Amino acid sequence: KEIVVSGIRPTGYLHLGNYFGAIRNYIRMQEEFNCYFFVADWHSLTTHPDPKDLPGNVMRVLAENIASGLDPEKVSLYVQSDVPEISELYLLMNMLAYVGELEKVPTFKDKVRLQPQNVNAGLLTYPVLMSVDILIQRAVKVPVGKDQGQHLEMARNFAQRFNHRYGDLFPEPEAFNYGDSLVRIPSLDGAGKMSKSENELATLYLADEDDKILNKIKKAKTDTGSGEPGSPVPDSVQNLLDLMKLVSAADVVSFYEESWKNTGSIRFGDMKKQLGEDMVKFISPIRERSKELQRDTDYLKKIMKAGAEKARANAAQTLQQAKKLIGINYY
Ligand code: TYM
Repeated sequence: KEIVVSGIRPTGYLHLGNYFGAIRNYIRMQEEFNCYFFVADWHSLTTHPDPKDLPGNVMRVLAENIASGLDPEKVSLYVQSDVPEISELYLLMNMLAYVGELEKVPTFKDKVRLQPQNVNAGLLTYPVLMSVDILIQRAVKVPVGKDQGQHLEMARNFAQRFNHRYGDLFPEPEAFNYGDSLVRIPSLDGAGKMSKSENELATLYLADEDDKILNKIKKAKTDTGSGEPGSPVPDSVQNLLDLMKLVSAADVVSFYEESWKNTGSIRFGDMKKQLGEDMVKFISPIRERSKELQRDTDYLKKIMKAGAEKARANAAQTLQQAKKLIGINYY
């Protein structure tokens, strides 16, 4: 079976972007592939989270993954810091990563712009650590959202570079999504993508209560106007249609698409009511199951321990081979 790796940072509540960009793929992939899914706690440290918050955030990400349908019996579900082999290969791989190329990574440049007071070296080498998460399990498929596409390209570069210098070890991993292209879930305010840190009102979280979901959708941006029949659908309206495609029945979606096509307008009140109801139906079972799981921390700890054991066993083999190829082979 092909090996799959993907990770999610424990930096806040998981949202629809995480679900439809990543988790939805995990759930299907667990039936077909040898899957390693993890909580990227080291990656989250670039923003210096409060140490008091970290354990709860890690547990919640685990719970939200399981509540979404991930089966810990079928996949290895673990926490990055429980696999110290990753840190050792990260050190080794840093010797093959050039500062110039790391400085050019768009996500790094964004951080320099947005948080100039905290441009730490961990941010610069973030793509190296991420590549190692993937390469150490010798994964070939990596289910992620569109925002991670560039990082996967770097993972392939590092794999190639290592193989070329020291000998074949790493397969070249590809970003993966069922369907043709990587997914980007827009935020509800029409400005950018949904993200854990941005505008809370414009993000739908898997932990949101029903009234919150309805309220956020009610306030979602739609622009005011209507257009000529047949005119292009404005971005904000397209965003809502796209969200609707994820949770509503196909005939409901095409009803509103047709409405725009034929009349150049949509009854947004109705549309939002429908989308709200369907969204509540989608999110509420995940939310409730996740709450239950978060009360059972013993169970979650058992899962993460078992997951780490499997992930470590596989990682240790790769690390050993990498060291041998590099020449760290003295005994
Ligand atoms: P993170 O924690 O920001 O996001 C987790 C996953 O959710 C996807 N995602 C989205 N997809 C579509 N639309 C959105 N609006 C949206 N927002 C988030 C992300 O693409 C991601 O798949 N660097 C990674 C974590 C990581 C990782 C890895 C991933 C560390 N090591 C190794 C894969 C393999 C990150 O920060 O994801």
